Amino acid sequence: MTTAIESVELTRVGAGTAMGELMRQYWIPAAMSSELAPDGAPLRLMLLGEKLIAFRDSAGRVGVMDHRCPHRCASLFLGRNEANGLRCVYHGWKFDVDGNCIDMPSVPGHQDFKHKVKAKTYRAVERAGLVWVYMGSRAQAPALPDIEASLLPDREITVQLGQRACNYLQALEGDIDTSHFGFLHGGHIDAAELAEDNLLRFTVANRTPEYFIADAGWGTTYAAHRPAGKGKTYWRFSNFLFPFWTQTPQGEFPHQVDIRAWVPMDDEHTMFVHLSWRGRKRAIGTVRKDGSPLGGLGFGHDYLPNTTDWFGRWRLRGNQANDWTMDREAQRRGASYSGIDNIHMQDQAVTESMGGITDHGFEHLAPSDHMIARTRRRLLQAARALRDNGTAPPGIDNPEVFYGARGGFFFTAEGADWREAYTEQLRDAVRPAAPKQAAE
Ligand code: FES
Ligand SMILES: [Fe+2]
Repeated sequence: MTTAIESVELTRVGAGTAMGELMRQYWIPAAMSSELAPDGAPLRLMLLGEKLIAFRDSAGRVGVMDHRCPHRCASLFLGRNEANGLRCVYHGWKFDVDGNCIDMPSVPGHQDFKHKVKAKTYRAVERAGLVWVYMGSRAQAPALPDIEASLLPDREITVQLGQRACNYLQALEGDIDTSHFGFLHGGHIDAAELAEDNLLRFTVANRTPEYFIADAGWGTTYAAHRPAGKGKTYWRFSNFLFPFWTQTPQGEFPHQVDIRAWVPMDDEHTMFVHLSWRGRKRAIGTVRKDGSPLGGLGFGHDYLPNTTDWFGRWRLRGNQANDWTMDREAQRRGASYSGIDNIHMQDQAVTESMGGITDHGFEHLAPSDHMIARTRRRLLQAARALRDNGTAPPGIDNPEVFYGARGGFFFTAEGADWREAYTEQLRDAVRPAAPKQAAE
C-alpha cells in the first residue's frame, strides 16, 4: 500500500522534491550524441522538470545549461551556435560550454562585466553514444555508473530512445512486473501451439510464476521460477538499479548485456533509453510450431518526426489520441491479446492509460506486485535518507556495484538456490566490457 504522501514523494522529480534530489545525485543519460552537431541548432532538453538547452560547440564539446539567458531570460534556444559558444540573439551575449560569458557586445567596453556573469550550466560527458548530465551539487561529480552496457564500445551497442507520456515510475514498474507478460504480451498464445524449444512455452503454460525478491547493492532484484520438466527449473532474473534503470529477463543470461532507463523529463513525461549489446540473443520465438507467425509480438519503434518542442523528441506514432493503434478486430480474432501489435506499444498503452501520474490510492497491489512494492520502498528509503541525513544513495560512491547486475533467463537443476545460481551464471557469463572503476 502506497500512501498519498509516499505517492507524492515517489513521483515528483522537480528541484527540491525528495525524488528529484535523489535523481540529481546520479549521472543521467539525457540525449543521443547524434542529436548535437558542432555549431548545430541548440536542442531543447526537458530534464527533471527543468528546461535546458544542449549544444555542441565548434570544438565538439557539449554544453548543457538553463535555457534562459542570464541577462534578461530570453531563451538560448534561439541562440546562434558559433565559434565555440552560444550567442543570445537578444543582446548578443555569448557563453561557452562551461557557462562563462565570453562576450558582452551590448555594453560599452569600460562597463563590461562579463567576468561576473555565468550561465547556469550542468556538467555533461559522452559515453555509449549518449550525452550524460550531472545535475547534482557536488563540486566533484561522482564517477559514471559501471553499467555494463554503457561500457561497450559504440560500435558494439545499439541505443534507442522513446518518449512516454506518463510518470517515470509507472513506466519503470512495467519492466519489473513479469506477471503481465503472459497476458498483455502473450495472453493470446496457447502453449500447445509452440515448438519444444520456444521459451515462451514456459511463460504461457504457467501464467502465475513464483518469485524470490531481495534488496541488492544496486537496487532490487527478483527471480521468477517455473518448473521446466525433467527435473529442471526455468529462472527469469530482473533488476531495478538506482535511480531509474531496469534489466528485464528477455534474453539468454550469458549474453544479456542490456539495460533500460526511464528518465523523467518532468512529472508526466519520461524518456525511455535502451542500451543493448549487439551480441545478445533474441529471446522470443515469434512463430508457432507449424511455422505460422504469432501475432502481437512486433518490435522496433515507429517514430513521429522530431520537432523542436520541449516534448517533441522521440515520440512514437501510437498514443492516446489513436488508442495506441489498437485494432479491436485483431483482438477479437486472437491475433493479439490487446489488439496492439507491437510489444513496446502494448506497454506504452497500459502505462500511459493510467494517466499522467498513477493514482496510487486507487490501486490494489497483489502478491505478484511484491517487486514493485519493494522497489518503491527502496527508492523512498534512499530519498529520505538523503533528504533527512545527507546519506549518499546507492552506487554514488561505489559505482562498481552496478557491474554486478544482469537480467536474463537460464535453467538449473530443480532445487537450486537462487542466489547461488545467479552468482554461478554471472561468473560464467560473457562479459564484453570491463568495469571502468576497477580498471582505473
Ligand atoms: S537576454 Fe540574452 S543577451 Fe540580453
Ligand atoms: Fe511488457
